[in-house]
Amino acid sequence: MAENLFIPETASKREVYDTLLPQIESLVAGESDLTANLANVAAALKQAFGFFWVGFYLVKDSQLVVGPFQGPIACTRIAFDKGVCGACYTRRETILVPDVEQFPGHIACSSDSRSEIVVPGFKNGAVALVLDVDSDRLNDFDAQDQEGLEKLMKIVERIL
Ligand code: SME
Repeated sequence: MAENLFIPETASKREVYDTLLPQIESLVAGESDLTANLANVAAALKQAFGFFWVGFYLVKDSQLVVGPFQGPIACTRIAFDKGVCGACYTRRETILVPDVEQFPGHIACSSDSRSEIVVPGFKNGAVALVLDVDSDRLNDFDAQDQEGLEKLMKIVERIL
């Protein structure tokens, strides 16, 4: 396993995803502990992109419970019908929110959060977890993030 991530300094966002994903794949290969792997995935995303908050909510006890993340302290439990994470769980698809104040029911774990993207991860056809990425800037996520983070989720799904 590589000890350090390689992130090209002058790369476009797409190039960063393209460089990062194979490294994440080898980072989690050969490790069976899910918590360890999710922790390193969150850290790798934080290191590569400097996201304000990035982490996982796992389906447990019929709720979403916070898992490994990087960033300020977060809401511990989210009901399936609450917030962007709950909408992602219920709709079973990526939710991209350019302005969190325009999203009905958004949960402000931090008042600094301005935009957000949440990607579902499936196990045996059911949502098993979601990846939540928050920014302190408006409109900070686009189709490239959606594509990159959905590819990342395919890697995560293989270790669930
Ligand atoms: N904003 C999210 C809650 C999770 S945190 O921001 C870390 C939501 O509305 O689901």
